[in-house]
Amino acid sequence: MKPKVLITRKISESVIANMREYCDVMVWEEEDTPIPREKLENKITEIDGLLCLLTDSVDEELLNKATNLKVISNLAVGYNNINVDVATEKGIVVTNTPDVLTETTADLTFALLMATARRLVEASDFLRAGKWSSWSPMLLTGQDIYGAKIGIIGMGRIGEAVARRAKGFNMEIYYYNRSPKPEVEKELGATYTDLTTLLKESDYVVIMAPYTEETKNLITAEHFKIMKKNAILINTARGGIVNETDLYEALKNGEIWAAGLDVFEEEPVPLDHPLLTLKNVVTLPHIGSASITTRNKMADVAAINLLLVLKGEKPLNPVNNIY
Ligand code: DGY
Repeated sequence: MKPKVLITRKISESVIANMREYCDVMVWEEEDTPIPREKLENKITEIDGLLCLLTDSVDEELLNKATNLKVISNLAVGYNNINVDVATEKGIVVTNTPDVLTETTADLTFALLMATARRLVEASDFLRAGKWSSWSPMLLTGQDIYGAKIGIIGMGRIGEAVARRAKGFNMEIYYYNRSPKPEVEKELGATYTDLTTLLKESDYVVIMAPYTEETKNLITAEHFKIMKKNAILINTARGGIVNETDLYEALKNGEIWAAGLDVFEEEPVPLDHPLLTLKNVVTLPHIGSASITTRNKMADVAAINLLLVLKGEKPLNPVNNIY
């Protein structure tokens, strides 16, 4: 009998077709919305493999029902939606999709940084609203990027890729990480600092850390107070790393200059969220890795990881220590 697999959202047909050769595949493809919790709870009891997204909460309650489950393959590099400790206790392999999305996510991070610094969204809206009456010396003036100081919080693969882009803009690079990375310092001339120094010195503070118990609410009111008044905060990691209420106050009171956010604590962000009322915030709907090529590669890698485990082999990207 073929192993049973649930894919919680429509992904590329060719990836699903490959999986069908080895598995009995069910796909949740009703509209482009997350699978309802009760459907996931029903299916989890009978499946051997789950290919899921960051919109699916694979928590302890769900895992307690997963009596046959051998692998959870997350179609993302972040896996804060999965209770990895409980999965590990139950001998369930958890995998993710790093590497293939690194450069694409760094591109978007830099695009958001530039759009925020130079007020691109506001400027475009201004023109389309018919407000452009003449060229004016200080019209829609923003912040310089070339030669500015950038502080990267979390120097993982994507942090390094952002730093390479920053080097191309002749930026002075600071970073804060669990441990120093001498090879990055040598290659990019980056300086390892504590969090306070990074926040005090940087014109751009870019959040690139994984979302864990240690990074939850990492940036709060006290941190905005020590940042420069012209500083710009960019977050393409996870919303919960920054305290959104404190960020709103800091932006409103001019403690920092602007923010570019691809991620929010609650997603989709509610339309009445205070941050959406501010002109100096550029917002995106969590599209860091959203290029066609990269999203297809992520689906490929997620499928390969899942199949390898079901075939009794080691996956490419295990995140828990079962092997
Ligand atoms: C991830 O992979 O964790 C991103 O947030 C989505 O690409």
